[in-house]
Amino acid sequence: MNTARSTPNIAFIKYWGNRSEELRLPMAPSLSMTLDQPTVEITVEEAETFAVRSFLTDGSEKALKEKDISRFRKVITRMQQYLETIGADCALPASIAITVRSHIPPAIGLASSAAVFSCLAKAVSGFVAPTLKLSPKQESILARLGSGSAARSIYGGFSSLEEGSGLELGSAWSEQIADERHWLLYDIVVVPAMEEKKVGSTEGHALASTSPFYKDRIEAIRSRRQKECIDAILSKDFEKLQRVTEEDCLDMHHVMETSTPPLHYLNEETHRIVNAIRALRTKEHIPVLFTMDAGPTVHLVCPEEAKNAVLSFAKAQKGCTIFETKVGPGASLIE
Ligand code: DP6
Repeated sequence: MNTARSTPNIAFIKYWGNRSEELRLPMAPSLSMTLDQPTVEITVEEAETFAVRSFLTDGSEKALKEKDISRFRKVITRMQQYLETIGADCALPASIAITVRSHIPPAIGLASSAAVFSCLAKAVSGFVAPTLKLSPKQESILARLGSGSAARSIYGGFSSLEEGSGLELGSAWSEQIADERHWLLYDIVVVPAMEEKKVGSTEGHALASTSPFYKDRIEAIRSRRQKECIDAILSKDFEKLQRVTEEDCLDMHHVMETSTPPLHYLNEETHRIVNAIRALRTKEHIPVLFTMDAGPTVHLVCPEEAKNAVLSFAKAQKGCTIFETKVGPGASLIE
């Protein structure tokens, strides 16, 4: 089997900053919920020359930029190097063709790199399976080499990217905290504006350490936040999850905004929506939390009982695109 399907994830404890930019080895652990959609499918095949092609839901081909193709090329080389270290030399041929079928609507602003690179890792795992059957931990390492947050989408439900130690290709991987049947949480995604990001996460990670608040952030996650978040998930304590998730999100944006140069991913609409959801929460005691990644999109996470109220709130936000998702099963081989 060499075709896989995967999805994005939404982080409760955010990954921001590396100890090795080149190998995407994180400075601190992070934690997320894997979403059930939108999906990406990737096929990996042997080919005469290296090629990447990408298709949209309507079947039309999306022209890839040279920088996207070279990211894939670099990631495949890294994956081959990692496979060598675990005894699967030459399991992945020098030249492969990668076909991406993305069902991520261009207008929803959900970072697709987590979905794409977890999917690529799973497809590569399927391809090399006759030589060596990879464990999910090894698949998450392959995914991490493409995009740090992608390591977490290998698993369904709730998973962490562990900090690990050392500076080897395999020095950090993901672990599952609880599967998708553990806790039915929804993520109602509210997308205020659809400009392309000026500074992508890869460049952003490299600036993290220039913020005077970066060290404290790393320390807080290592000593307390990651554990609080795991506890909140295991005990299904929504209030605790809300507290630690919002604290970590605002802290990450504070680090971003105080780095040199500063990175401003949130806009006025983001702040307006966050204030409105806070007001609604105070007034109607609805269990809902907000969190934002490297963009103005607001993720409203809530349990089943609050879903309808949160959806009507989201739909009332003028000019926003709404996307409804829930906890999902993670990456899998489909063919
Ligand atoms: C803010 O995983 O997108 O979404 O490894 O360079 O692809 P690369 O970075 P990426 O960084 C994620 C940043 C974040 C937080 C998170 O998802 O944990």
